[in-house]
Amino acid sequence: MKNLIQKYNIPGPRYTSYPTVPFWDKEGISLEDWKKTTIQSFKETNDTEGISLYIHLPFCESLCTFCACHKRITKRHSVEEPYLLTVLKEWDLYCDMLVDRPKIREIHLGGGTPTFFSSENLKQLIEGIFKRADRFKEFEFSYEGHPNHTSEEQLQTLYDLGSRRNSFGIQDYDPVVQKAIHRIQSFEQVKKVHDLSKKIGYESISHDLIFGLPFQNEESIRNTIKNTIKLKPDRIAYYSYAHVPWIKGVGQRGFDDNDLPKDNEKRYLYELGKQLFFDAGYVEIGMDHFALPSDSLYKALDNKKLHRNFMGYTAGKTQLMIGLGMSSISDSWYAFAQNEKTTEAYTEKVDRGVLPIFRGHLLSDKDLIIRKHILNIMCNLETEWNVGLDDSIKNNILDRLQEIIDDGLIEVTSNKITVKEEGRMFIRNICMAFDLRLIENKPDTRIFSMTI
Ligand SMILES: C[S@@+](CC[C@H](N)C(=O)[O-])C[C@H]1O[C@@H](n2cnc3c(N)ncnc32)[C@H](O)[C@@H]1O
Ligand code: SF4
Repeated sequence: MKNLIQKYNIPGPRYTSYPTVPFWDKEGISLEDWKKTTIQSFKETNDTEGISLYIHLPFCESLCTFCACHKRITKRHSVEEPYLLTVLKEWDLYCDMLVDRPKIREIHLGGGTPTFFSSENLKQLIEGIFKRADRFKEFEFSYEGHPNHTSEEQLQTLYDLGSRRNSFGIQDYDPVVQKAIHRIQSFEQVKKVHDLSKKIGYESISHDLIFGLPFQNEESIRNTIKNTIKLKPDRIAYYSYAHVPWIKGVGQRGFDDNDLPKDNEKRYLYELGKQLFFDAGYVEIGMDHFALPSDSLYKALDNKKLHRNFMGYTAGKTQLMIGLGMSSISDSWYAFAQNEKTTEAYTEKVDRGVLPIFRGHLLSDKDLIIRKHILNIMCNLETEWNVGLDDSIKNNILDRLQEIIDDGLIEVTSNKITVKEEGRMFIRNICMAFDLRLIENKPDTRIFSMTI
């Protein structure tokens, strides 16, 4: 196993989209094409499956030095109202364009820290969204909360607005690790927001943990997981630490590369975590995620309904996902578009009445076929060859998979490829064999975190 880890631990995408962002067309997408594909997707699916909304709320009170998210650090809460009014203006631009009233299947508030916003402002935001939309019959509403900045009032307000699922960033309970990542947060504080969520009636609570952080070791991970299991969250995200210090502005500092667990140690922390979650009754979902069998994510896996998009794994698929807020990515299935990455540029465009996208990608027919295969592998750990691939592409993919086949990580038959249990940790490498854009344009600088 040690040799396999050394062999396959290379920079690679996490496949929340295909093509992955660095391989979107350099020329981008025209505003006209973006609008056209959005309207097409909306007409095809609004009545039958509804649409999803991702709303990015970027503010955080203090910087965690491991964080790779798009965030804005400030203690000034006066930023809340102008920002949410801009998000609602952006939503108006979409609603004017779509003509019919959208039926929302899913809303997710991501960040940054959505619970940076006061209860009144969160209420104003969600009520503003529903002035122009209806709830699809299986409506779901979830959000990310920081345990140190989530009050009972916020939990209750969001529940009253229809949320039944939330997730809390935990990362690690060890004091040495917490100091290095500049995120001091006690078990008692996490227990408080977790128990309050249960008391209020939330049906699914998720905890985010990370392995591979500075100074983590077997003992610290055992303790972190012991504490996590005491609270029995319905879902656990166990992310591999993405060390991407070359991306300007992510704030990854305060520790040294030498403080990070090495490849094999990091992988051991993953295997250890996985075993401890299994022992506690959790089931592994795709990559990085675990859930109790009573949770909707496990049920989606069981019914082959699991989906993956920029929000990560979701239980319900919609073809159209509109991303609102600075840096958000939207997906019309036929195209992707990303919003301006600073609040200033984002606000300036929305104020001018223009959809605030700054780059995107129109998928080719070939992209759409590969996209489906990568999704199948990431969600169901298998895919059928007969979906759209001509023989020459299929043979090229098989050539690239040969080493992975020889290492016993996947099984290939004339109509199917299936990832074996031993191959699960190499799932990103397996998808890379399908990634024609990556193969045709090998990057010459580091743009991805390591696969393992
Ligand atoms: C937007 S943040 C979480 C919400 C909230 N701001 C908090 O920190 O509690 C979403 C999650 O992304 C994960 N994350 C952020 N940076 C990461 C990195 N460099 N590698 C792996 N996971 C990361 C963390 O687990 C984090 O909880
Ligand atoms: S981990 Fe959460 S709170 Fe910390 S900087 Fe990132 S988004 Fe903000």
